[in-house]
Amino acid sequence: MRVLVTGGAGYIGSHTLLELMAQGHEVCVLDNYCNARPVVLDRVRNLSNRPVTAYTGDVRQATLLDQVMAEFAPEAVIHFAGLKAVGESMRDPLGYYDVNLGGTLALLHAMDRAGVRRIIFSSSATVYGDPEYLPYDEAHPTAPTSVYGRTKLAAETLLRDWHAAHPETCAVILRYFNPVGAHPSAQIGEDPSDTPNNLMPFIAQVAVGKRGALQIFGDDYDTPDGTGQRDYIHVVDLARAHVAALRYSAEHTGARAFNIGTGESYSVKQMVAAFQTASGQDIPCQITARRTGDIAAMQANASRANQELGWKATHSLADMTQSTWAWQSQNPDGYESD
Ligand code: NAD
Ligand code: WQD
Repeated sequence: MRVLVTGGAGYIGSHTLLELMAQGHEVCVLDNYCNARPVVLDRVRNLSNRPVTAYTGDVRQATLLDQVMAEFAPEAVIHFAGLKAVGESMRDPLGYYDVNLGGTLALLHAMDRAGVRRIIFSSSATVYGDPEYLPYDEAHPTAPTSVYGRTKLAAETLLRDWHAAHPETCAVILRYFNPVGAHPSAQIGEDPSDTPNNLMPFIAQVAVGKRGALQIFGDDYDTPDGTGQRDYIHVVDLARAHVAALRYSAEHTGARAFNIGTGESYSVKQMVAAFQTASGQDIPCQITARRTGDIAAMQANASRANQELGWKATHSLADMTQSTWAWQSQNPDGYESD
């Protein structure tokens, strides 16, 4: 299929490009590089040995979208482009709604004008909010606790309303749990532009000597070792979920949400221990106060994706930590190492 990938130069997008091309899909990227570097796509081109057409610009730009639709004529869109920092979203709600909801709206308008009927959307497990039960299934109530989460839920609602008015369309909503890891080539990976907000890139930067110690945000949660538990998923498994979703979108109509996780969870202390084993480096840690808004534990029930998308995560915790270490140690300054 011919697939337009918005935000394709980002962390998850770049890994997805490789999996799409490996399955014979033709890709085209639209990215404004607000959180990525163009060199990412050079690495993707080298690894795939395939051309990747890229348009530089904002997903909210209608004229650019019309140009991409006319020139590339996509049969489906995978929509990664968006902002994802929870803390920043609380300080800049309008900016987050503008990009995350406004971007999705502009894209759907352009798809309607061009007659494109299929979209795969990057949503997040954060739409569930405080767990009423675990593991979360897709029927769990949605009550996100951050502006970021509410922009994702609003975009999901928009997609459902779009589909309801156009029954021939398919919107696949993928609710990612905690993506980690890097491509086995160690050529592409997560490259936070600032201090990492997320656990795994922070641990990796401590291991490589860029930061002194990991702050563990609370060890008094109601979990076996007191630290927060999450369902970490290897980014290559996540990328493959998009390929499966694309196949699903060619065979189905509807607007359907899928949890994309492993169904297992690990604590912060378990992640640190696994990373020490993978890297052979000591990871100094300090226990600090809980981070505002954090929950004790979350875990996916991914059986809907397993059954309906025919997708299942296959990478282990060791795959996650080893690939992160290979990427971080071979690119200590991320893509700036180039
Ligand atoms: P990322 O920041 O690495 O990738 C996002 C990409 O979109 C970047 O290349 C950025 O330059 C681009 N972009 C942002 N705003 C844009 C705009 N207005 N126009 C064009 N391009 C724009 O993030 P990621 O981790 O790869 O996440 C991809 C998507 O998945 C996001 O929508 C994010 O909210 C969602 N998501 C991420 C996580 C996670 O933990 N990484 C979890 C759940 C959901
Ligand atoms: C994981 C665990 C922290 C950093 C966030 C977003 C979510 C989604 C994924 C986009 C928690 C602990 C972390 C640190 C720590 N993103 N931690 N020290 O909070 O589950 O999810 O990213 O959709 O929306 O909220 O992931 O990696 O930040 O934290 O102790 O320096 O690690 O308290 O228990 P989180 P995370």
